[in-house]
Amino acid sequence: MDLRSQIDIERLPQHIAIIMDGNGRWAKEHNMPRVFGHKNGVKAVREATEAAAEIGIKYLTLYAFSTENWKRPKYEVGALMKLLVDTLDNEVKTLNKNNIRLQAIGDLERLPGRTLKALKEGIESTKNNDRMTLVLALNYSAKWEIVEATRKIAQKVKSGSMNPEDIDQHIFSKSLSTSGIPDPELLIRTSGENRLSNFLLWQMAYAELCFMSVYWPDFDKNKLFEAILDYQSRERRFGKTSEQLKS
Ligand code: IPE
Ligand code: IPE
Ligand code: MG
Repeated sequence: MDLRSQIDIERLPQHIAIIMDGNGRWAKEHNMPRVFGHKNGVKAVREATEAAAEIGIKYLTLYAFSTENWKRPKYEVGALMKLLVDTLDNEVKTLNKNNIRLQAIGDLERLPGRTLKALKEGIESTKNNDRMTLVLALNYSAKWEIVEATRKIAQKVKSGSMNPEDIDQHIFSKSLSTSGIPDPELLIRTSGENRLSNFLLWQMAYAELCFMSVYWPDFDKNKLFEAILDYQSRERRFGKTSEQLKS
């Protein structure tokens, strides 16, 4: 039986987050430069996005560039930023055709001008689409985001529009860049690395973590379905006992 038909549509995660990893190692295996891996990763982005939308996922967040990734060789960073512009230019039409809305999280103002422009145009042109929201995490890091949220809240307290006692988890969540987006129930990381690399630390407090050995350029629809099936095989207890969930 194919994987897709085994998925229980009634128990889908609303939000899936993906750390797209392994482009460099994939390129190396093919005796090609790292940037060749990034270029081939675009096809996997398309596959993941289409599979998620087809099955009825409401939010898909892709970690495309971390704050730490600026430390890579200048040439690679430049190629990634250019690839982003080209991909946005080419793919926004398809997003509109598939009724998918584009959003972005991260310290976007520090992106190169052309990348930011292409991103803003993509966000604007897809803003009325409502089948699925595709969130790109760009120049993103969870610690940066948490500090930013704290700063926003501190400003409100300083100006007198909020009392320290009013600060709760709800207010804090609303101050993050993911405000309005439900927390991801499922995190997928490809390439066999078992770490979070500063991604959505607050939001993933209760996410199911699915680490897959496939390198990102080889990720496809079936890999997404495989991860969803793995998610559906787990018992999400949220602190309760297994017996409590069954009663
Ligand atoms: C993920 O692949 C893409 C980005 C971080 C932009 P990598 O480039 O990290 O690939 P590996 O981990 O070196 O194989
Ligand atoms: C995480 O991948 C960031 C993205 C996928 C954009 P990295 O490959 O940069 O992570 P580390 O440095 O190996 O943890
Ligand atoms: Mg990597």
